[in-house]
Amino acid sequence: MSDTTHAEAPLSTTAERQAVTSQAGVTPSRDWVIVTRGIKREYDMGGEIVRALRGVDVAIRRNEYVAIMGPSGSGKSTLMNIVGCLDTPTDGEYWLNGTLVSSMKDDELARIRNKEIGFVFQTFNLLPRATALHNVELPLVYAGMSAKQRRETAAYALERVQLTSRMHHKPNELSGGQRQRVAIARALVNNPSILLADEPTGNLDSTTSSEIMKVFEELAEQGQTVIMVTHEADIAAHARRVVALHDGQVSSDTRRERFVNDNSHIIEAKKG
Ligand SMILES: Nc1ncnc2c1ncn2[C@@H]1O[C@H](COP(=O)(O)OP(=O)(O)OP(=O)(O)O)[C@@H](O)[C@H]1O
Ligand SMILES: [Mg+2]
Repeated sequence: MSDTTHAEAPLSTTAERQAVTSQAGVTPSRDWVIVTRGIKREYDMGGEIVRALRGVDVAIRRNEYVAIMGPSGSGKSTLMNIVGCLDTPTDGEYWLNGTLVSSMKDDELARIRNKEIGFVFQTFNLLPRATALHNVELPLVYAGMSAKQRRETAAYALERVQLTSRMHHKPNELSGGQRQRVAIARALVNNPSILLADEPTGNLDSTTSSEIMKVFEELAEQGQTVIMVTHEADIAAHARRVVALHDGQVSSDTRRERFVNDNSHIIEAKKG
């Protein structure tokens, strides 16, 4: 932070706006990994309608690192489930990599999800009896790779989160932060378009949390698109862009530009 100044720029008059306000049915350009147009999600609770999302417009570029914030019940997880192809909206369009996924059937959705999305959860969700390496290998079993290829690919994913030295340990032989690194490696192993993390530091102490945030930052710098849900402002501060939800709608969308020691970003900001 010491050699960097941040300016928060609202994204209301930029290319993002155009991508989301284009006519319904128009395929977004390849710059956008995610475009949602007027996404609604309603739950029918025996006659009473819960409006979890009430028209969400968001456009996210390849290689962006975005934090989704907002109070409890504002719709963060509902939005993540739709973006992660676990759920479909009641109304509106969701385009992922130029493909309209909002109207897909469950089996198509599952195929897209396995190929395009890597999930990281608050609770790690690792298999307790399997080593770190085996946990990371698991998603590759369905990809039809040879055992040797799987092992090499999983070992590389663990190397990316700096866990090579612990790859033969089981989850109960690892610290919380190390477990979350395994989960991140598992999410990365299929080379997904998007890494989606819902409260990834929710079960970690503050020192370990900042360690994990460094991992996400490094991945983002290497070109991985990262979208992270968080309650905590200091966690969100690691992201380049913060989308705030309130009552099922986007209440603000700001990007932090780094003006010092980051020339590439200055050029990008001018272009936008
Ligand atoms: N399966 C469901 N059935 C009915 N209502 C639901 C369902 N899932 C979520 N909701 C409602 O939708 C709204 C948004 O919930 P959501 O879980 O997206 O909030 P959130 O922002 O993730 O909150 P938190 O920070 O507490 O995790 C809430 O009012 C919630 O009660
Ligand atoms: Mg939630």
